[in-house]
Amino acid sequence: MKEKIDFLLNGQITEVSLQDESLTLLSLLRDELKLKATKYGCGLGQCGACKVLVDGKAMNSCQIPIWDLDKKSVVTIEGLQEDKIYLNLKNSFSNANAAQCGFCISGMLVTCYSLLKTQSSQNIEELSEELKENLCRCGVHHKIINALIKVST
Ligand code: FES
Ligand code: FES
Repeated sequence: MKEKIDFLLNGQITEVSLQDESLTLLSLLRDELKLKATKYGCGLGQCGACKVLVDGKAMNSCQIPIWDLDKKSVVTIEGLQEDKIYLNLKNSFSNANAAQCGFCISGMLVTCYSLLKTQSSQNIEELSEELKENLCRCGVHHKIINALIKVST
């Protein structure tokens, strides 16, 4: 068993010790690396607040053990700050007032970004389905879908 792994985090090679086998990507980001944009919601893979991009796919970071990251690429909201697609998406969220408390928004943006990159969903039904894994207790899903549609058309 390896003692360390390395992976790309927001474009930087990041080395992590595997001393604590129970450490998740979410804990690594928030507690050790102080990257707090990714949120801790349920910790059970059920709310989507902790989504990050792993090899380009939106995934729940609370369910990813760090030993599973070797040689992979992880991008968080902090790593998207100069990305044109992300900035368009963020503006669209803002224009659509697609946030109330804002707690779910980081995970929502990551999922929407991944959808825009893959262009896998075009219509409202498909977009709604894709965003089902991201919960919003403030009920702004419809505004988020509108914001996403505006940048995807
Ligand atoms: S905190 Fe990871 S899915 Fe809820
Ligand atoms: S805006 Fe409050 S949880 Fe979504």
